[in-house]
Amino acid sequence: MASITLKDIVKKYGDGFPAVNGVSIDIGDGEFVILVGPSGCGKSTLLRMIVGLEDITSGELEIDGARVNEKAPRDRDLAMVFQNYALYPHLTVGENIAFPLRLTKGKFTEEEIREKIEHAADLLELREHLDRKPANLSGGQRQRVAMGRAIVRDAKAFLFDEPLSNLDAKLRGQMRTEIARLQRRLATTTVYVTHDQTEAMTLGDRVAVLRKGELQQIASPRALYEQPVNLFVAGFIGSPPMNFLPGQVADGAITLPFGTFELTDRLRDAIGDRELVIAGLRPEHFEDARLVDPTKKDRGQTFEASIDVTEWLGAELYAYVPFETHDSVASKLEELDRELDGEGMRTQFVVALDAASRVRDGDETTLWFDPDAMMVFDPESSENLTRDDETAERLDRENEEDRRASLERASARAAKA
Ligand SMILES: Nc1ncnc2c1ncn2[C@@H]1O[C@H](COP(=O)(O)OP(=O)(O)O)[C@@H](O)[C@H]1O
Ligand SMILES: [Mg+2]
Repeated sequence: MASITLKDIVKKYGDGFPAVNGVSIDIGDGEFVILVGPSGCGKSTLLRMIVGLEDITSGELEIDGARVNEKAPRDRDLAMVFQNYALYPHLTVGENIAFPLRLTKGKFTEEEIREKIEHAADLLELREHLDRKPANLSGGQRQRVAMGRAIVRDAKAFLFDEPLSNLDAKLRGQMRTEIARLQRRLATTTVYVTHDQTEAMTLGDRVAVLRKGELQQIASPRALYEQPVNLFVAGFIGSPPMNFLPGQVADGAITLPFGTFELTDRLRDAIGDRELVIAGLRPEHFEDARLVDPTKKDRGQTFEASIDVTEWLGAELYAYVPFETHDSVASKLEELDRELDGEGMRTQFVVALDAASRVRDGDETTLWFDPDAMMVFDPESSENLTRDDETAERLDRENEEDRRASLERASARAAKA
């Protein structure tokens, strides 16, 4: 097990393009850190530099406090699990798992190798498949074989590059929980790359959001969601995504596309003397006015909305509301949408209502929203003006306490078993 430290890491490929541009991250011993961001933002490049498959142009990479920039991959003692698993079709599952041990030529006796295979197979529930060939396994089983190969090596850390992207949605969900459980049980430092924000949020102790080779924010999932540093992080994390609306400010009030509302002190302080901001409201911060929880009712605001389309999903109902954007923020929001691989639907916002709501396609209805939950962004710098550093720190601290507690529970369970 090990800590991994990235200090101002830069990667320029042959053409001088900076695929990774000055990234610094401290990964603690036993921590599960996710690298997430849209396709092409430099995630794989960063991971490959950590394992040693790619040279580092500048910056320092340390494992357990010692510089490893010049070390060959095999001397770094890290285990990588790739997207396509890289299994050998002619070898049995058992021999695929044993493969890294065989490469060490004579370091382990046959007996030791057998024990390691069986230990990994037990952890991964692969015992009855050890004599089968990979071609006869399901996608999830193949994925587990690939993980078995990482486990037997007793590597200092596991590195995953989009390991679940070839699996269907249901299996992806299952494997996600298996990986999380395994990581807790083994308490092995793990760096995991994905472009999927759900995977990032559910797996990571901390999540690093990358954009165009630069680190935007690294924080606990909850701090990312509730206290994002900028428009990019706010828009990337969350599904359906946060709604961004032009907000014109005058005389202590903000005019959003659906109405004018008096500013609370919190919002007034954040906005300062700006006349135009981008307001951010998550879908769940709206409700059907008829169904608002009475305890929330007096702090909220209501407005009339023309509903375009609704989607009833059982647990909640999504309703889409078209709005007129403001010219001066339109290009900013379009650019953001392109970067986030969006579908270019930023001229409607989405609200997540109680599933009991009877709002339907084409309705004129009264919606409620919570101004306390509203974020405000600077349209020039994209900075989240409503971010509260203290709250963000508290969320990260609580997250770290929870992580330690769950590691302890996992080791107590393992000791009992
Ligand atoms: N071998 C390479 N040579 C030149 N450019 C590359 C190479 N590999 C990746 N890149 C570029 O570096 C950027 C980051 O790529 P990558 O790390 O694969 O992103 P991600 O894994 O986040 O999708 C992309 O713009 C990509 O085109
Ligand atoms: Mg990649």
